[in-house]
Amino acid sequence: MPPVVATVEGIRQAVGDARRRGLTVGLVPTMGALHAGHLSLCRAARAETGFVVATIFVNPTQFGPNEDFARYPRQLEIDRELCGQAGVDAIFAPAVPTMYPANFHTFVEVLDLSAGLCGASRPGHFRGVTTVVLKLFNIVGADTAYFGQKDFQQARLIRQLVHDLNVPLQVQICPIVRESDGLAMSSRNQYLDPTQRRHAVALYQALQAAQRTIEEGERDPEAIRGLLVRRIEDTPGAILDYAAVVDADRLQPLPRLHGEVLLALAVKFGATRLIDNILVQVRAEQRPMK
Ligand code: PAJ
Repeated sequence: MPPVVATVEGIRQAVGDARRRGLTVGLVPTMGALHAGHLSLCRAARAETGFVVATIFVNPTQFGPNEDFARYPRQLEIDRELCGQAGVDAIFAPAVPTMYPANFHTFVEVLDLSAGLCGASRPGHFRGVTTVVLKLFNIVGADTAYFGQKDFQQARLIRQLVHDLNVPLQVQICPIVRESDGLAMSSRNQYLDPTQRRHAVALYQALQAAQRTIEEGERDPEAIRGLLVRRIEDTPGAILDYAAVVDADRLQPLPRLHGEVLLALAVKFGATRLIDNILVQVRAEQRPMK
């Protein structure tokens, strides 16, 4: 089983030892309560790098005052077992004061890209994410860091952060891992009661229906957004947070759909907020022949 390291000096030492053995280093940042989605990132890191560090840290600065920081699932021993099976070499699991000592004063923020979608519903969330992720990059000093498309906006922001601040590291974005009915895996799925769990598949079904409609030729983003909204409104117990049809690079609305388009949903079932998305490559519109 991989060792659990709680100090900055300890993980730097482990990574330093690996580097002296000539190994490249992969980093998988997580908040724990690991599932097959997280483990797919660990396996990608295992396949592509010589020494894999997974981090497990429920980051307080990315939770709003009324969010689930206190009750977020924590299960370090189970996670350690799962990390071992996925080929992780070391786990960095710091305590909150290690990451945020009393004299902590610095935050990093990716402007503009963090404003819409989840940033609009969760003020300050991405500031907390980008700050902790940059700290993890600086602490571990990996060659490649692995993130999931599940949190598309997060991954897009981290790519921007790495580019803008010249962080010497590659960012890999891995596909969304789903349950057999299509629900995107999430540590928060365990909050759902059985009825909510049955209806939660509506997110993926709505996104797939929207994708099919685009493939059949629809190019009006409002028509697609309307379809997503109706699908969620028709789902018992589901409260729409947002439905977005945006350019996948800028995360901004388009007048007509073309290029790489992100279809994204955030939906609440009770207090549980779920997100999901699909990327669609949209062919240019055929001009009618004169
Ligand atoms: P967490 O929600 O634990 O997710 C850790 C990583 O696993 C993220 O990159 C996320 O996109 C990826 N992931 C989650 N569910 C997935 C799924 N079903 N398929 C594929 N990948 C999935 O995201 C965070 O933690 C935090 O914000 C963090 C980046 C660790 C900063 O605190």
